[in-house]
Amino acid sequence: MKISLKLGLWFFICTFLVEMISMLYLHSHVIQSRVSQELRSLQARGNNHRDVLEISSDPSTLHHIGLMETNTDTEVVITDLKGKIILASGPLDKSIKHTLKIPIKHIPRKGLVLQPDWRNEKYISTVTEFNGGIEHEGYVYMFKKTNDVQKLISELNQHFLLASALILVFMLFTVYFLSKALTKPLISMIEATKKLSTGDFSVKLPVRSKDELGELSTSIQTLANDLNYLKRERNEFLASISHELRTPLTYVKGYADIASRSDLDETERTHYLKIIKEEGERLKTLLEELFELAKLDQNEFTINKERIHLYTFLESIYDKILPAFVNKGVKLNLKCKDSIYLDLDPVRFEQVVMNLLVNALKYSKEHSSTYIDAFKKEGNVYLSIRDEGIGIPKEDLPFLFNRLYRVDKSRSRATGGFGIGLAIVKEIVEAHDGQIFVESEFGQGTCFTIILKGDSNENRVIN
Ligand SMILES: Nc1ncnc2c1ncn2[C@@H]1O[C@H](COP(=O)(O)OP(=O)(O)OP(=O)(O)O)[C@@H](O)[C@H]1O
Ligand SMILES: [Mg+2]
Repeated sequence: MKISLKLGLWFFICTFLVEMISMLYLHSHVIQSRVSQELRSLQARGNNHRDVLEISSDPSTLHHIGLMETNTDTEVVITDLKGKIILASGPLDKSIKHTLKIPIKHIPRKGLVLQPDWRNEKYISTVTEFNGGIEHEGYVYMFKKTNDVQKLISELNQHFLLASALILVFMLFTVYFLSKALTKPLISMIEATKKLSTGDFSVKLPVRSKDELGELSTSIQTLANDLNYLKRERNEFLASISHELRTPLTYVKGYADIASRSDLDETERTHYLKIIKEEGERLKTLLEELFELAKLDQNEFTINKERIHLYTFLESIYDKILPAFVNKGVKLNLKCKDSIYLDLDPVRFEQVVMNLLVNALKYSKEHSSTYIDAFKKEGNVYLSIRDEGIGIPKEDLPFLFNRLYRVDKSRSRATGGFGIGLAIVKEIVEAHDGQIFVESEFGQGTCFTIILKGDSNENRVIN
């Protein structure tokens, strides 16, 4: 069953029940109060006659009372204490005679209701006792035909029926539009998720409201956008990889063809074989780096954190890489406050610092300097690696940490990396709950800054 139908049906049943109950209650209440109002007025009329009779009950007064009730919808019967009829305003039918025979025990001063049953009896009736002295005692019976009350009630029923029918129609319209308004966004979300499941991520959901439905719609839209972005990124990544693989393979095939020529002298052959070997190495490195990245991506790597003394840690890396810097004529400076201790994976983090330093060296000019700087600020640890190299154009900065992204798209042999290093760096830093930023001035130099959460027990001493 469709949700709109289900919702509509539930709404309808609930409101219908509420309407029926309140209508029935109102109906019976109105009838009750109407009937008791009639009985009260009948009683009051009887009491008025009683008051007159207690002053005088001579024949002219009786005649007068009879006259008063002749042209009304009520009848009066006056009897003595033994039940003998003294006065009757109209002919006495069976029903009146029957009521007159009902034995009366005690009548309160305000009178007594004898027959309240308006549904089954022909009359509703009341009785009042009058006492104007000996031989002037008796009862005043008042009668009112029930068909008047029944007519009134049937008119009332008609009004109630009409009102119920109107409310019902109004309710049906309300329920229809309400369930439509509620289910319309749901239906568009169902269609959107169906589209997503078939791989079509071009979903556009309008956000109509700020309620739960609006939030759900926004979440689905965000999911669709993310999936779309991932799909695009995956395609680009695959295209880049196949390009990366094709280039060295073309070299390998081309140079192998040349090297296998019989008219080639030995030095040339060695030269081409050397190129083939180099390209093979490059391919191997590329595949290793991709494998590393895939592992990082699937969270298949564990971070084995150890408490390290930052200066000692950086110093060991400094010692390892210094010869390469000296070789190229680039000065390497290390500055680190002694007191910094951090919990991090030394193997992984060495990979981070090494990658950044290799980049700094790769893209630095001779006689320039590279600075490793570590310090604490606002409870966080900052580690920056700044070079005075070629710098990075502003438009490339947002994509720098993307996989296989290189500023210099042509892969020159001198600087030809794969553009994977920084992607790995970012993954590892984020796995340490850290962040990495880059600032660069084209032609001036580049500075990478890593921010790590500060050390909570900084005074701990390592043995
Ligand atoms: N210190 C730097 N100075 C100038 N450009 C840089 C610097 N570091 C990175 N880059 C630019 O960012 C790109 C991406 O760097 P990344 O380390 O990811 O790749 P790579 O060094 O080219 O190759 P590899 O995968 O071998 O590290 C580089 O190709 C380079 O253009
Ligand atoms: Mg690199």
